[in-house]
Amino acid sequence: MVDKKVYSLPELPYPSNALEPYISEAQLKIHHDKHHAAYVNGANAILERMEKARQAGADLDMKATLKELSFQAGGHVLHSLFWRNLAPAAKAAKEPAGLLAEALKKEFGSIERFKKEFTQAATSTEGSGWAALSWCALTQRPIIMQIEKHNVNVYPMFRILMVLDVWEHAYYLDYKNERPRFVEAFWNIVNWDEVGRRLEAAIK
Ligand SMILES: [Fe+2]
Repeated sequence: MVDKKVYSLPELPYPSNALEPYISEAQLKIHHDKHHAAYVNGANAILERMEKARQAGADLDMKATLKELSFQAGGHVLHSLFWRNLAPAAKAAKEPAGLLAEALKKEFGSIERFKKEFTQAATSTEGSGWAALSWCALTQRPIIMQIEKHNVNVYPMFRILMVLDVWEHAYYLDYKNERPRFVEAFWNIVNWDEVGRRLEAAIK
């Protein structure tokens, strides 16, 4: 049988207490070790179910299966991006620089205006979801996405530069129901260098 690759949980790129006081060790550990892991396992379970059905020549409920796979794989991809676009506050650049800063200023007028719009997208996401900064290759412009769950409102082919998880599981231990405080804290631990690298890769 052909050996097919499956999803795997990436290690956090910093110690689990490194984002304190903005994200506590307990909050980060449960988020990564339990919630992110569940999406990895969930996506792999669906791939296995599909494989078994193919081998047995059995039919799947294709609509339900693909909807679930989109959700689980989307969760895995977004969390993997999220860990890497965060950094310990002491190491993180305070502001975007270079091409990223230029692109944001050109589009939004100022970095402050970009942060305001992104914050509004994050705080107003209905239920569980994400705010994402993405890059439209067709217009060469940065666009904010407000992703519901892990997969709704995603623009096909837009490269994601930065994400913020606003599911309650991302902040409830630290901030209870006060999502705006979590979003405000996020700005202290953005890894602007990584976001800038993603933009440079997107426009190559
Ligand atoms: Fe999450």
